[in-house]
Amino acid sequence: MQQSAYELIGDKKLDELVNRFYDHVSSHSELAPIFPSDFTETKRKQRQFLTQFFGGPSLYTEEHGHPMLRARHMPFKINKKRADAWLSCMAQALVEVDIEEPLRAYMFERFTLTAKHMINSSDSSASGGIDHDN
Ligand code: HEM
Repeated sequence: MQQSAYELIGDKKLDELVNRFYDHVSSHSELAPIFPSDFTETKRKQRQFLTQFFGGPSLYTEEHGHPMLRARHMPFKINKKRADAWLSCMAQALVEVDIEEPLRAYMFERFTLTAKHMINSSDSSASGGIDHDN
C-alpha cells in the first residue's frame, strides 16, 4: 500500500511546520493584521486540518465539522497579495523543517491550489475588510 503524505511527513515534522509557518505569518506585514495575536488555537486547528488534508485521521472534521475552508475564510479579505504572502511563509517553513523533494513540491502544489481558492477579493490594498479582533 502506498504511504500517505501524512505518513511520510510524520507528526513531529507537521508540528514543526505549523510552528515555523505561523512564526513567519506573525511577522508578515500583509498577514499579521488579520490573525489573532495568540496563535495557540490557530496552530491547533491547522495541525488538525493538515493531518486530514494529507491523508491522516480526520481530526479537524471530528471536532469542527466539515472544513468549508473558503466559507471560513470569508470574514477576512484575501487578495492575491495575501495568498502569495501565505504561500511564501509556507515555502520558507517547508525548507526550514527539511521536508525533502519530491514531498515538498507535492505539498506546495496542494497549498497553492487551496490558497488560490481562498482568494475572495480583487482589491489589492491591504486595508479594508475585517481585521482580527484581538
Ligand atoms: C490564501 C491565503 C490565506 C490567508 C490570508 C488565510 C488566513 C486565515 C485566517 C486569518 C484565519 C483565522 C485564524 C484564526 O482566527 O485563528 C485562517 C484560518 C484557517 N486557515 Fe487560512 N488563510 C489562507 C490560506 C489557507 C490555506 C491554503 C489553508 C489550508 C491549506 C488554510 C487553512 C486554514 C484553517 C484550517 C484555518 C482554521 C479554520 C477554523 O477557524 O476552524 N488557510 N486562515
